[in-house]
Amino acid sequence: MGAAGALGWLLLLQAVHRATGARPCSPKYFGRDAMVCVCNATYCDTLDPVVLPALGTYVKYESSKAGKRLERSEGSFQRSLHAPDLVLAVDTTQRYQKVKGFGGSITDAAAMNIFSLPETAQDHLLRSYFSEEGLEYNLVRLPMASCDFSLHAYTYDDVPFDYELAHFSLRDEDTKLKASGGRERGRMGGRGGAGAQPLCPLLQIPLLHRALAMSKRPLSLYASPWTSPTWMKTSESFVGKGTLKGQAGDKYHKTWANYFVRFLDEYAKHNLSFWAVTAENEPSAGLINNYPFQCLGFTAEQQRDFIARDLGPVLANSSHHHIQLIILDDNRLHLPHWAKVVLEDEEAARYVHGIGIHWYLDFIGPIQDTVVPTHELFPDYFILATEACIGAHFWERDVILGCWERGNQYSHSILMNLNHFVAGWTDWNLALDLEGGPNWVKNYVDSPIIVDTSEGIFYKQPMFYHLGHFSKFIPEGSQRVGLHISHRYLSCQLEHVAILRPDRALVLVVLNRFGWDVPFGIRDPAVGFIKTVAPANSIQTYLWRQQ
Ligand SMILES: *[C@@H]1O[C@H](CO)[C@@H](O)[C@H](O)[C@H]1NC(C)=O
Ligand SMILES: *[C@@H]1O[C@H](CO)[C@@H](O)[C@H](O)[C@H]1NC(C)=O
Ligand SMILES: *[C@@H]1O[C@H](CO)[C@@H](O)[C@H](O)[C@H]1NC(C)=O
Repeated sequence: MGAAGALGWLLLLQAVHRATGARPCSPKYFGRDAMVCVCNATYCDTLDPVVLPALGTYVKYESSKAGKRLERSEGSFQRSLHAPDLVLAVDTTQRYQKVKGFGGSITDAAAMNIFSLPETAQDHLLRSYFSEEGLEYNLVRLPMASCDFSLHAYTYDDVPFDYELAHFSLRDEDTKLKASGGRERGRMGGRGGAGAQPLCPLLQIPLLHRALAMSKRPLSLYASPWTSPTWMKTSESFVGKGTLKGQAGDKYHKTWANYFVRFLDEYAKHNLSFWAVTAENEPSAGLINNYPFQCLGFTAEQQRDFIARDLGPVLANSSHHHIQLIILDDNRLHLPHWAKVVLEDEEAARYVHGIGIHWYLDFIGPIQDTVVPTHELFPDYFILATEACIGAHFWERDVILGCWERGNQYSHSILMNLNHFVAGWTDWNLALDLEGGPNWVKNYVDSPIIVDTSEGIFYKQPMFYHLGHFSKFIPEGSQRVGLHISHRYLSCQLEHVAILRPDRALVLVVLNRFGWDVPFGIRDPAVGFIKTVAPANSIQTYLWRQQ
């Protein structure tokens, strides 16, 4: 064995040695194959930090409907490959978009659910998402004030006609909670729950500090408003069809732009700085009659003018001038129209950095007709998936514990997006209760983590592990590379993406949504071949170094 070989073995042994800290899933079944992993105050499944395997070997992480959850194994590259008709060949000379990252959202509901747990269980939950023993999320989206996943509607300045924003303050949700009593208090006051804790003025801030402290990667925070104060709106209401009063450039628009800066200022006082803001969550919602929860309508033209005349210059003239501005933040079927209207205007375009998309109407807006032409027209602007959840449609059940297919839906969307120039993917609520709330308009949905407040425990759903197959292995700054498929017909059975990490390691994610095993090969011209199988209903992440 040469010196290089010996070193390889040493690294391998070290990797094996370090792989002993991981704690396995504590399974609970809600029907056949419907498995969640249960965490409580004393136990939670964990992963080991990712260690690159020795050159010529690879690590594989696998989750499956049959019960594997990010299970790690190792193997070696071969010099040649016999048999499998289906070969995925990596081509690092083909380079596509850079990756921004993966993450989720801290709504009021998510924060309340997390705080309803005993403190050590809270820690397990946050570590599961943010630490090296978890999914290593690097994106966090925050609503600016309330959204439907709040206990009631509010903004940070509900004092009428306060154009100076003299009464602006980050709302003390806890004060509201205590004042409202009854049902809400019941939700909060689980065993060892929040009732016993000294609650901080704003629930999100301590959570963010804890997440930052346990995260090895830099966290990028971004914020989105749902509604402005009602006194700025044509509807004079948080809900229903309504836009800002007046025209771009007037005192309503200027005050609303200043509100963004005040929000960023207040968080800065708590040592929290933001990577980006979106101009408005789902601006098309506020153009719909009787829209049921907080919204603020903008057409593409109105968003263009608001950015060009108000939000852009006000942010640029503030201490937050490095912040990234994201337009749309709404269903992708508005593309490429929305991007054309805003970005073909020079005044608006110079303040904009990216385009946010939601997944709710993907079935009537194919990615080829929406995202792809947008990227081709405006390749310098990143495209980021800013919100997704299952259970929002009337035909979907809100929470289904242990549902593997919902994990598939997440992975399918992430793969589709990564393969079409999208830079990352943001989940909606980090944690919901057994009902899929709280949500003040009962718009209950599912979440990768469901909290059972009465038991002081939480469930990690298949969606959680599906997200982890991407977030943990694809750090910010990675880049999608080419992947050639040997066999068009057979290739329909697998979905896949190849990513080159900043440390030059390669990541290949392979999803099999079918009920049968699919044998296939992987070819990396720099290293060799892997002969492997994508088992029925499984997702795999392969990781290896090229040099
Ligand atoms: C927590 O979970 C572990 C593993 O499932 C279990 O052994 C333990 O009894 C649980 N603790 C409590 C207090 O329920
Ligand atoms: C912010 O950070 C500074 C310097 O590290 C520290 O002195 C201050 O106490 C922090 N403030 C808050 C609100 O955390
Ligand atoms: C820029 O900010 C300064 C100080 O905050 C303010 O006086 C000025 O009016 C602002 N300019 C614009 C164009 O908003």
